Amino acid sequence: MTVSLRLDPEQPSREAIEWAAGIIQQGGLVAFPTETVYGVGADALNAAAVNRIFDAKGRPSDNPLIVHVASRKMLDRLVARVPEKAERLMERFWPGPLTLVLERKADAASAAAAGLPTLAVRMPQNKIALELIRTANTPIAAPSANISGRPSPTRAEHVVSDLSGRIDLILDGGETRIGVESTVLDLTTDPAVVLRPGWITQEELAGVVGAVEAFATIRELMRSPGTRHRHYSPRARVVITETGNVAHIKETCLGSLGAGAVGLICHTPIDIVHHQLRSVVLDNNAESYARSIYDAMRELDSWGAQLIVIEAIAEEGAGTAVMDRIRRAAGEE
Ligand code: TXA
Ligand code: MG
Repeated sequence: MTVSLRLDPEQPSREAIEWAAGIIQQGGLVAFPTETVYGVGADALNAAAVNRIFDAKGRPSDNPLIVHVASRKMLDRLVARVPEKAERLMERFWPGPLTLVLERKADAASAAAAGLPTLAVRMPQNKIALELIRTANTPIAAPSANISGRPSPTRAEHVVSDLSGRIDLILDGGETRIGVESTVLDLTTDPAVVLRPGWITQEELAGVVGAVEAFATIRELMRSPGTRHRHYSPRARVVITETGNVAHIKETCLGSLGAGAVGLICHTPIDIVHHQLRSVVLDNNAESYARSIYDAMRELDSWGAQLIVIEAIAEEGAGTAVMDRIRRAAGEE
């Protein structure tokens, strides 16, 4: 059993934050909310503690972690050089869901970097996260707080179900605001490359730093180790249907109902009533899908779905990141 502490996200109790910070300083693991998803954190400067994260998640050891900072001073302890583009992006998007890959100081956070000469860093926009980092007074390495390969956790209950007994404490700050992971931008190359699409779009980044390359080529996939592994998947098989195509959605669901329970995540209401069909209806926009898709996948999994049918949304704005995660869940990328 792992203790889960419920905190007021706007006014987290000092006592709870100090307790959590103490665990971090002693080399323990604490799960905490960010504005994107829950992370499971350790002192980024303590290699033994960071290695415990890889064990707890069953994470491949070649997949580096994001290091979370609460101040510019903390960032300067970690990276060799802050390019001008990074300055502009931090000014515009930090604290917020943007991770920057920068050149690492040779002696800083090498366990989190999985030995790479670069380091992924971000400043989260969440009071609990920021106060935890500040109080621990050390950068915190934190991947999403799920068992490797499973959907990222957007509620403390998801962390409990994946990591209870494997970590020391969970800070429960309620449902996360955004629900899809941060955008990962590599600034060690020119032009910069989006390694993982996220809430902050390529267009928004290009608006600040000029040319930004898209993520989806083999070469780029090879550069962000995490994007090579199967990701964000429920246990059930996932099939994607076109947006708004009622006939296609119905056919896909009905075609599988004989073989077992079917879950449906959609925005177009579908009039099939069947004891082996359960649907989660979301709004037809990136905000709604981002916030609820992982929760819906987990809910349909625990209900016993053998197949989850997901109706696509438009790939514009943050819809690109949402569809990237849905395709990965379906094993298409
Ligand atoms: O929103 C988020 O980013 C959440 C919250 C907790 O901050 N964190 C998160 O971490 O999603 P994780 O570990 O699940 O994903 C980190 C991604 C992986 O795809 C990893 O390969 C990539 O960032 N990454 C980390 N360090 C890197 C590096 N030095 N170079 C390239 N990619 C890196
Ligand atoms: Mg993850």
